Amino acid sequence: MTSNKVSSEPFKVAIAGLGTVGGGTVKVLRDHADVIAKRCGRPVVISAVSALTKEGLDFDVSGYQWYGDAVDMAKNSDADLLVELIGGSGGVAKTVVETALSAGRHVVTANKALIAHHGAALDKLAEENSVSLNYEAAVAGGIPVIKSIREGLAGNNITKVQGILNGTCNYILTTMREEGRDFDAVLKDAQALGYAEADPAFDIEGVDTAHKLAILASVAFGVEINFKDVHVEGITHVSAVDIQFAEELGYRIKLLGVASRHNGTVEQRVHPTMVPLSAPIAQVEGVFNSVVIDGDAVDTLVLVGRGAGELPTASAVVGDICDIARGLSVPTFSIPVADLETVPTRSMSEHVGEYYVRLTLMDVPGVIADVAAALRDHGVSMEQMIQRGREAGKPVPVVMTTHETSEANMVAALDAIAALEHVTEPPRMIRIENA
Ligand code: HSE
Repeated sequence: MTSNKVSSEPFKVAIAGLGTVGGGTVKVLRDHADVIAKRCGRPVVISAVSALTKEGLDFDVSGYQWYGDAVDMAKNSDADLLVELIGGSGGVAKTVVETALSAGRHVVTANKALIAHHGAALDKLAEENSVSLNYEAAVAGGIPVIKSIREGLAGNNITKVQGILNGTCNYILTTMREEGRDFDAVLKDAQALGYAEADPAFDIEGVDTAHKLAILASVAFGVEINFKDVHVEGITHVSAVDIQFAEELGYRIKLLGVASRHNGTVEQRVHPTMVPLSAPIAQVEGVFNSVVIDGDAVDTLVLVGRGAGELPTASAVVGDICDIARGLSVPTFSIPVADLETVPTRSMSEHVGEYYVRLTLMDVPGVIADVAAALRDHGVSMEQMIQRGREAGKPVPVVMTTHETSEANMVAALDAIAALEHVTEPPRMIRIENA
């Protein structure tokens, strides 16, 4: 980390996008101006703002220069730093950030899609122009996880980083468990309450979590962001019955993003995961996020907090602004962009772990022996099994957990089980994460 000489002149900020997070950023900079000035050694002032309209804003923007065009503001305002809160992986947000960096302005963004898709190129542009690109708010909202990894854990080799990175999914899974209801009904309620977007696809299909995970993997492992190779499964197939069985077996189902290093490869996966009830992450409920980091010196670190919302996200944005106003400069992804490694992705078939499997089968003599034989033939060892109820002529659910095995073996065993005469539905499989 370097500390540049800080001027006592006001540090000027331009904000592009005055939605929820933009409004929060204006309010935090305005309401905490005195303490921010003391901490940064200079006043931090908003000099310009840009949005599509002034209508509906619940804060006063009359003291700031108004731009209808954010690209114009990025190019021509007098700001030292531009905050990009427009959103989207390309389009205007990308042009605004590129324009600001090229004009020699620092950039702070909350835009995970932009960083996940274009992080390395934007980092290069920032380096070429000797300015900072900070994006704390892009991952886990108010939790200072980028700062924790990049600065606080700079002395560690990080082997694994995993977390609950999407509050919408965590809220839905928590509510499904608490109320014993199925996914579709809970999603509808979450939308009516404003907890889920009208188009919730990015959240519930795991894409938002994958954006954040790819960024975390880059910062933690010093590798180039590789969003396209993240294995992504969302929560749309999680059923109330699996949540119930998980509890009986001593687990809770969470949508996790998990990134780990393995001898020259990186595994990045997003999927519903069963975590032991005793793990701290199992207790993170509702809209809260959590990140668990394994470092060789620090051991395991657990961070918990609000992953979204006006003021928690603004807290992260303003933290980034303050770092730059103080003259603190850290390589965007922990190390200079030219040193970021390009590392192959470990395929899911090589993943090794424990599994939960739910079968639907006719309770006839010998069916479990056939299931056991399929597991044996593919080298999968069963840990426990539960069967509940029996109604003549109707299929029953049978659930089991396995000992550690490779995903290739598990998938082959499940294919063989699915083909058995008395198995009436495709098996459901959920990965278990014990760490
Ligand atoms: N849509 C995200 C969530 C918040 O539900 O956590 C912003 O990334």
